[in-house]
Amino acid sequence: MTRDVRIFEVGPRDGLQNETSLIPTPDKIALIDILSSVGFDRIEATSFVSPKWVPQLADAGDLMDGITRKAGVRYAVLTPNLTGFERALAAGADEVAVFASASEAFSLKNINCSIAESLDRFAPLMAAARAAGLPVRGYVSCAVECPYSGAVDPEQVRDVAVTLDQMGCYEISLADTIGRAKPEAVFAMLETVLDFIPPARLAGHFHDTGGQALDSVAVALELGLRTFDGAVGGLGGCPYAPGARGNLSTRTLATFLAERGLRTGIDLDRLAQAERLVAGLSGNPAPLKEHSA
Ligand code: HMG
Ligand code: MG
Repeated sequence: MTRDVRIFEVGPRDGLQNETSLIPTPDKIALIDILSSVGFDRIEATSFVSPKWVPQLADAGDLMDGITRKAGVRYAVLTPNLTGFERALAAGADEVAVFASASEAFSLKNINCSIAESLDRFAPLMAAARAAGLPVRGYVSCAVECPYSGAVDPEQVRDVAVTLDQMGCYEISLADTIGRAKPEAVFAMLETVLDFIPPARLAGHFHDTGGQALDSVAVALELGLRTFDGAVGGLGGCPYAPGARGNLSTRTLATFLAERGLRTGIDLDRLAQAERLVAGLSGNPAPLKEHSA
């Protein structure tokens, strides 16, 4: 089994999207520019979602224009629909991510449609991405628990993941959105998904609200996963998932992996520079769109 493990840095997107104060675009650009030298080969930079829903990321186009791209790093962005994909393509994103939920209640709150509707929406996006030669990553949110409806059936996660896989996503990131999953539940979910999708096409995306994210990583490693999402400084959460606090911190994750003799290629000194920048970020309050769903 390979000793190489990839950390996918999602802080600039999954982290900053949850900041209630609007962070100035130049600060976000400076953060991504430092992260570009840390050793990640993929950085999730921002989202091309509705600016009414996530005002914090309304500057996605300017941000993509402003960053200094480093060779060998893919700058990925979230796209909920074809409109988002077209904006991402125009901004020069290297890859996009679609995000579905395994929980109907969360799907309605987060993207204002049912799971089935969201998957239908992705079909033209996937076709456009194929035509443009852009890789697409898929997320399954609430892969273990939903903030609105509680425990999620592993078979529901499997069905959404398999659909994303069959639609052409090169990798599916399975997300413990609210960070309260118990390792046994993560094991049961992963085993069910792994019956259909090999570990090389799966990633673990763990929030650390309950302090057990590393236990989930350990379970996933045991089952063969070798890609994990981390966020610089443990930034983050999801604006539509109450209680979803920080993502698993990239440093905590990289250190945990190194202690097990696994290689991530992360330069912890450079990461410290990015963490200092994160610690100094501040902005103005940003209102969130309220949902009828
Ligand atoms: P909607 O309001 O239901 O739908 O939004 P709509 O298609 O009728 O659009 C409404 C308005 O938004 C229209 O403008 C559209 O043109 C515009 P208006 O006519 O009112 O002026 N619009 C857009 N503008 C820019 N870019 C777009 C876009 N699409 C529509 N792409 C929609 C539906 C999906 C767009 C909305 O609900 C949305 O943007 N949601 C995103 C919410 C979000 O970003 N949540 C956080 C990310 S998911 C997450 O954090 C989980 C993850 O980290 C994994 C995990 O931990 O679980 C991935
Ligand atoms: Mg997340």
